[in-house]
Amino acid sequence: MLLKIENLHAEIDGKPILKGLTLTVNAGEIHAIMGPNGAGKSTLGYVLGGRPGYEVTEGSITFDGQDLLELAPNERAAAGVFLGFQYPVEIPGVSNVQFLREALNAQRGTRGEKPLSGAEFLKIAREEARKLDMDAEMLKRPVNVGFSGGEKKRNEMVQMGVVNPKFAILDETDSGLDIDALRIVGDGINRIMRAPDKAVLLITHYQRLLDYVQPDVVHVLADGRIVRSGGADLAHELEREGYAGVTA
Ligand SMILES: Nc1ncnc2c1ncn2[C@@H]1O[C@H](COP(=O)(O)OP(=O)(O)O)[C@@H](O)[C@H]1O
Ligand SMILES: [Mg+2]
Repeated sequence: MLLKIENLHAEIDGKPILKGLTLTVNAGEIHAIMGPNGAGKSTLGYVLGGRPGYEVTEGSITFDGQDLLELAPNERAAAGVFLGFQYPVEIPGVSNVQFLREALNAQRGTRGEKPLSGAEFLKIAREEARKLDMDAEMLKRPVNVGFSGGEKKRNEMVQMGVVNPKFAILDETDSGLDIDALRIVGDGINRIMRAPDKAVLLITHYQRLLDYVQPDVVHVLADGRIVRSGGADLAHELEREGYAGVTA
C-alpha cells in the first residue's frame, strides 16, 4: 500500500478536528473523499502536507514505507506528496516559472538529483502548460495573481504535472470550474496520476468531477472520521440522498 493512516487524531488551536481517521490507499488507486462542510476534509490534506499549526495527537501515517509524520513538509514533497489547495495562494513578485523551477529543483536537491537548467526546465513547463490548454504567457505572470478561479485550478494541474508526484491530495479542485475547464482538469488528473505506482485523494462535493476521474473507492468523512466507504456508486447515492441519510 502507498498510504496508510491509522486512528489519526489532529487538532488546531487545541480544538480536535480529526477524531480517529483510518484510511488505506493502494498504489494505482484514486479515492474520492466527500462529506459535509466542516467535517475535516481540508484538515486531512493539511496534516498530510505537514502544514504548521495542525497538531497530530494520536495515530500514525505511513507513506511509501516511511513515517510521514517524521518528515518536514519539504521532505514530504520530495518523497512525492503533492497538496493542491482548496484556495490556491497568490504570490506577488514571484513568476509562475520561477516558482515551479524552485519547487522542482528543491525537490530534486532533497532527493540528491541534479537541478535542471533554465532551458531544460522551461521545456517541461511549456509542455505541461500546453497539455492543460494554458496560455504559455501565464507562466510569466506572478503566481495566481489575478488568475480566475478556473485558471488557478488549471495552474495547480500544471504544477502537478511539473513536479510529477507519487501521491496527490486535491482539495476541491473542481470548485469554480466551468464545464470545459472541468474536463481539462479531469483529463489532467487522469493523465498525470493514473499510473500503477501513483495514487490520488480527491476531495470533492460533486459527482461531475467523478464522471471524468472515476474513483476506485469513495469515502464519506464526517465529524473527523471516515464513516462509510464504498465504490463509485456511493457518490451517486450521496448525490441523490445527501449526507444526512448516509452518515446517520
Ligand atoms: N485555524 C483554525 N482554528 C480553529 N478551527 C479551525 C481552523 N481551521 C479550521 N477549523 C475548523 O475545523 C473544522 C474542519 O475544517 P475543514 O477541515 O476546513 O473542513 P472541510 O474541509 O471538511 O469543510 C471546521 O469546524 C473549522 O471551522
Ligand atoms: Mg475544505
